[in-house]
Amino acid sequence: MRTIDLRSDTVTLPTEEMREAMRTAELGDDFYREDPTVNRLEALAAKKMGKEAALLTTSGTQANLVSVLSQTKRGQAVILEAEAHIYYYEGGAFSDVGGLIPILVKGHDGVMSPQDVESALRPPNSHFPPSPLVCIENSHNRAGGTVWSPAQMKALFDFAKDHKLNVHMDGARIFNSAVAQNLEVRELTRYADTLMFCLSKGLSAPIGSIVVGDRDFVDRARRYRAILGGGMRQAGVIAAAGIVAIEKMVDRLRDDHANARMLAKGISTIDGIAIDLNKVQTNMVVYDVSGLGIGGKEWVAKLNEAGVKAGALEAGRVRMVTHRGIEKEDIEFTLRVVEKAADESRRK
Ligand SMILES: Cc1ncc(COP(=O)(O)O)c(C=O)c1O
Repeated sequence: MRTIDLRSDTVTLPTEEMREAMRTAELGDDFYREDPTVNRLEALAAKKMGKEAALLTTSGTQANLVSVLSQTKRGQAVILEAEAHIYYYEGGAFSDVGGLIPILVKGHDGVMSPQDVESALRPPNSHFPPSPLVCIENSHNRAGGTVWSPAQMKALFDFAKDHKLNVHMDGARIFNSAVAQNLEVRELTRYADTLMFCLSKGLSAPIGSIVVGDRDFVDRARRYRAILGGGMRQAGVIAAAGIVAIEKMVDRLRDDHANARMLAKGISTIDGIAIDLNKVQTNMVVYDVSGLGIGGKEWVAKLNEAGVKAGALEAGRVRMVTHRGIEKEDIEFTLRVVEKAADESRRK
C-alpha cells in the first residue's frame, strides 16, 4: 500500500547528489580540525548566516544545548517562549546538563514582543537568578511553523541589547522562514547573537545541525560539543551532504510551502475540522479534529490505516508536515483520505 509520511520533514532521505558527495568527500580528523570537508561546510555556513564562525553538531538538540551552555552559567535563568522546542522537547537538557532555570513567556503564534519579555525580567537582586539569555524559535514548531519577521526580530533584539541579554535563535527551519518571507536568510540572522539550523530537516541531509556566532562563542561551543561526546573524526562524510543541503536545497522549500497551503485549504473545507489558515506560513499544517468527536491519537491511527502518517499533538490537535518526499498528487490523495475519515467520524 502507498504510504504518505507527513509526520515530519526529518523523514527526508539524502539526494543522489548528497550520497555521491558523501562517497567522494575528502576526509581528515576533525578533532585536529583537519577534515577539509567539515572546514568547508563550517566556512560556508558562517558566511551564509553572516557570522564569524560555525560548528557542525550531531543534532539540533545538541546544537541548542551547546549554544545555551556557552552563554550561561549554572544556576542562571534562560527566557524561552512557553512552547519552545528547547523547553518542550529536548529532554530538559538545559536544566539537567546545564543547571539552568527556564523563565517561560507566552508568545503570540510563537513570537514574543519586547513587552512579553519585559514582563519576565526580574530585578538584579539576590532573590532572583540572573537571566543572561533569551531564546527564540523561527519558524516556531509548536505554533505550527509560524515565522518571525525581521521587524519582530529587530524589536526583540534591540530590547535584548538594551537589557544586556544575548539572543539565541533556534532556527532549525530558518530557511523555511526566509523562503516564506522572500528574504535572504541574513535579514533574519542579523537579529540573533547566535543561532542553530538543521541540515537534516527540509534540507534533506541525513545528519547534522550547525551552530553559528562569533568566534569566541563557537570556540566555547566546540568545547561543550566535545564534553557531550559530539566531537567527531572523519565527519566530512556528514558535512559533504550538508554542503549540498545549503547550496542546492533551499529554494525548493517553496514547493513544500505551496503543498502545505494546498493541503490546509483543502482541509479548511471539511466540516468538523478547525484550522486557522493564517497560521499556515511554511511547511506545517496544524488542525483540530475535536469537532468530529474524535481524539488526535485516534484520528492519526485512522489515517495511518489508510496510508497517511501524521502526528498527534495534544487533545484533538494534529500536525502534518510537507517535505521533499511529498508531491502534489500525495496532497490530493491525503485530502481524499482526510475527507473519508471525517465522513466516517461524523457518522459515528
Ligand atoms: C524547532 C526545532 N528545534 C530543534 C529541533 C531538534 O533537532 P534534532 O531532532 O536534530 O535534535 C527540532 C526537531 O524537530 C525542532 O523542530
